[in-house]
Amino acid sequence: MSILKVSQMGHPVLRREAQPVDPDQIQTDAFQRLVADMHQTMAAYQGVGLAAPQVHYSIRMLVYLAEAEDSEDGAETFTLINPTIEPIGAEMESGWEGCLSIPDIRGQVPRYTHIQVDALDEEGEAISFEARDFEARVIQHEVDHLDGILYFDRMDDLGSLSFMTEYEMFWASDRDDEAES
Ligand code: NI
Repeated sequence: MSILKVSQMGHPVLRREAQPVDPDQIQTDAFQRLVADMHQTMAAYQGVGLAAPQVHYSIRMLVYLAEAEDSEDGAETFTLINPTIEPIGAEMESGWEGCLSIPDIRGQVPRYTHIQVDALDEEGEAISFEARDFEARVIQHEVDHLDGILYFDRMDDLGSLSFMTEYEMFWASDRDDEAES
């Protein structure tokens, strides 16, 4: 496994619409290696999510970290291939986000609090589930990466944008997740 270079804002790959993954490719060694490398890269950067365009692959795949069902197990990592999401209800909430492709900056982004997710997992099996709150936020952020959208684009007020030092000084609270995705 290896740690991949993370693309930074300004790189055209982050603004491109990523291509669907051919399901027949999922079981290949090359694809499985990319999945493993993305999980390792996310861990190395202490991220909570990472989309393939962020490691210079313009394909519809992402990995993310969420609390395990049994919270004593801590966090668990997931892979979503060709994901589609649909809001369940219209409720949105503003929350702090950061992005590994826009390091050391935080901003408040409105996101749906409850979504339906359909995707393939890293074995190519169809999965379907509902996500809420922080998990729903991370998935919306990552799926946006597959469509060439960065969280700045989703902000309704750029006034909350903060450098990390100022964010920690003035805005961070214990309940905010510090990670980027
Ligand atoms: Ni991001």
